[in-house]
Amino acid sequence: MAFTIAIDGPAAAGKGTISRAVAAHFGFAHLDTGLLYRAVGCRMLEGVAPLEAAQSLTKADLERGDLRGAAAAEAASKVATIPDVREALLDFQRAFARRDGGAVLDGRDIGTVICPEAEAKLFVTASAEVRARRRHAELQAAGSASSLAEVLADVRERDARDSERSTAPLRPADDAVLIDTSQLDIEEAVAAAIAAIEARR
Ligand code: DC
Repeated sequence: MAFTIAIDGPAAAGKGTISRAVAAHFGFAHLDTGLLYRAVGCRMLEGVAPLEAAQSLTKADLERGDLRGAAAAEAASKVATIPDVREALLDFQRAFARRDGGAVLDGRDIGTVICPEAEAKLFVTASAEVRARRRHAELQAAGSASSLAEVLADVRERDARDSERSTAPLRPADDAVLIDTSQLDIEEAVAAAIAAIEARR
């Protein structure tokens, strides 16, 4: 049986952690759709036209070691503004969403564009300052020297690009449950997500 859980929200709000935990809890498959845009972005940095990259993504592209880096994030945010690129990635995401056994997809436009019929929709957010602090801690742990101010500027720039683009901008679906993780730890955020989804089952 198909059951789609759509989880959207800005960068570093806790979407990825919540999505993985929710998928494990319900025994559903999980797709981090940001990786699709990151893979297209990486191919673009290598000189491939973004549309061509989106039309020819392979499993290997999605398993590259550099997908989580800052260069990939920046390039992803740029290719994600191209309507043809978004269109090229649509069928794969929709097929994944309707697979047997249930699916969790996380991204920016899952509840609004990819799966408007999703059985459960969450919009996970947190203040820009909290998200920058979390990202900064992660980067420091990974050995990066960027300052909190730089990370905050980066978070704000990416928010603006994701929210203000004309195609599939970042916004909550009308029927999405809002989860603000600013004051929640991981366990609390995951519990809130599971409770919201249980209410739709
Ligand atoms: O979630 P992330 O940081 O991996 O996303 C990378 C970029 O891809 C981000 O700037 C927004 C874009 N994106 C998108 O436009 N739509 C999605 N469904 C997922 C990501």
